[in-house]
Amino acid sequence: MRGSLYRLMGGFTEFDDYVRARVPQYLDELKALIRQPTVSAQGIGIADTARIVLDRARRAGIDASARSVNGGPPTIVGETGRGERTLLVYNHYDVQPPDPLDEWETPPFEPTERDGHLFGRGVSDNKGNLMARLQAIEAYRATIGELPLRVRVLYEGEEESGSPHLAAFVDANADRLRADGCIWEAGYKDAAGRPTISCGLKGIAYVELRVRGAAKDAHSSVATIIPNPAWRLVWALATLKNDRDEITVDGFAQEVRQPTPAELGLLERLPFDETAMLRIHGISRFVGGLSGLALKRKHFYEPTCTICGIVSGYTGAGSKTVLPAIASAKIDFRLVPDLTPEKVATLLRAHLDRRGFSDVEIVPSHGERPSRWPTDSLPARAAAVACRATYGVDPVVYPLMAGSGPMAQVCDRLGIPVTGFGSGNAASANHAPNENIAIADYVDHIRAFGRFLDTFAGRPL
Ligand code: BES
Ligand code: MN
Repeated sequence: MRGSLYRLMGGFTEFDDYVRARVPQYLDELKALIRQPTVSAQGIGIADTARIVLDRARRAGIDASARSVNGGPPTIVGETGRGERTLLVYNHYDVQPPDPLDEWETPPFEPTERDGHLFGRGVSDNKGNLMARLQAIEAYRATIGELPLRVRVLYEGEEESGSPHLAAFVDANADRLRADGCIWEAGYKDAAGRPTISCGLKGIAYVELRVRGAAKDAHSSVATIIPNPAWRLVWALATLKNDRDEITVDGFAQEVRQPTPAELGLLERLPFDETAMLRIHGISRFVGGLSGLALKRKHFYEPTCTICGIVSGYTGAGSKTVLPAIASAKIDFRLVPDLTPEKVATLLRAHLDRRGFSDVEIVPSHGERPSRWPTDSLPARAAAVACRATYGVDPVVYPLMAGSGPMAQVCDRLGIPVTGFGSGNAASANHAPNENIAIADYVDHIRAFGRFLDTFAGRPL
C-alpha cells in the first residue's frame, strides 16, 4: 500500500506487518554490528565499524559520507528524503570497554538471544537504536512511500570518550546538520516498564586526580617519615563531598540553578517507580534515604561527584607491605546549569590549593556542557504522539536524562530542539556486564520511529 492511500487502509498496519516479518533478518544485521568491537576509549575497531555503518546507511538510501576533522575518527553524515521539515538523527557507533569480562554470561562481542533479550556490548548504547532507525527508514519506504521530510544523520565514533572532536566537526559541517528538530541517541523504558521520552542531558567534567610521593615504591617501614600519596589522595577526596552526599567544592553549589516552580510541578507528577529501581540495583534504600519529590529532584536537577576508580599501591592476592609512590583517582562530575567543565576545573583547583593540596595534580580528561530543551518542542510533541500510537499509552516525559553526551555541542550550537526515545530499558545495563535490550522493545522502536517520521513531518497518524 503506497502513498496517501496507506492511511485509509489502516495507517501503519502494513508497515508493522513488514517489520514483524523481518525481525530475524533485522536482528542478524544488528548482531553483525555488535560482533564488531568499537571501543573508542582503547581506539579499537573504529575505522572498520565506521565503514560498516556508512555502507548500511547508504543501503537505507541515505546519501552519506564519512568525514573527520583534526585527525578525529570518521563521523558519518548523510541526508535522505524531501519535505518542508528537516530532522537530525544523532547516534554513536562506539561502545564502552567491555570489562569486567568474567562477569558476562556470554561474551560481550558475541551477541546472544536469551529469554526474549539480546545481550552484547552496544546493543542498548547505542548500536541498537542506530540500526533500528535505519531499518525503520527502509520499512517506511517499502510500505508507505518516499519520506515526507528530510532526514539527516550524524553518527559519531567517540561519544563514549567525551566527543573531543565533535564541536569542531559541527562547526565545519553546520550546513549538513541544520534541522528543525533532533532525535537524540537513545531512550529507555522506566523501571516500571513505561516508555519515556526526554529533552536534555547533564553535562560532565571528567578529571583524574594524581598525587606523587617518593621517587619509587618503598618498604612501608619508612612510612614514619616518607609521605604516602594514597593518604594524600584520600584526604583530598574527602574534602570534595560530605557524608550527607553534598558536594563541598568551594563555590560549586552556588552555580547550581534551582528548578523553577513549573519544573518542580512536572517533577512532582513524574512517575518514578522507586521499588523497581531499588530492585534493579540490588539495594534497600537510596542515598540519604530519599524518596518522592526530593529523590527525583536530586536525580534530575543536582550535580554529582563520583569516584569512578581509585588506584594506588598493591591490590593483588595476599599482602605486600609497600609504601606507594603514586596514587590516582578518576572522578566524574555530572553537571546541571550553570555549571560548565571550565568552571569545575577552576573551582576544583582553587578549592584544593586553599586546603594545602597543591600537590594534587588535576589532569582533565573531557568535558561536556549540560543541555536542556522544552518538553513541548516540535520533536518532543511528535515523539509523544508516535509513542502513544506505538505503545498504546502516553510516554512519561522526562525533562532530561541524568546521563551525558554531546547534546550541547550539536543542538545548542546549531539551535536545534531535541528529544530522545529508544529501545532500552531501566535494566539494560549500559556500560556494565550483560548489556541487553528486550527484542520486543527493539521492534517497537522501529515501529515508533516509523511513526515519528510522520508526526515530525506534521502528518496525522
Ligand atoms: N547513552 C549514554 C547517555 C545516557 C546514559 C543517557 C544514561 C541516559 C542515561 C551515553 O552513551 C553515555 O554513556 N554518555 C557518556 C558520556 C561521557 C563519556 C562523556 C556518559 O554519560 O557517561
Ligand atoms: Mn554510553
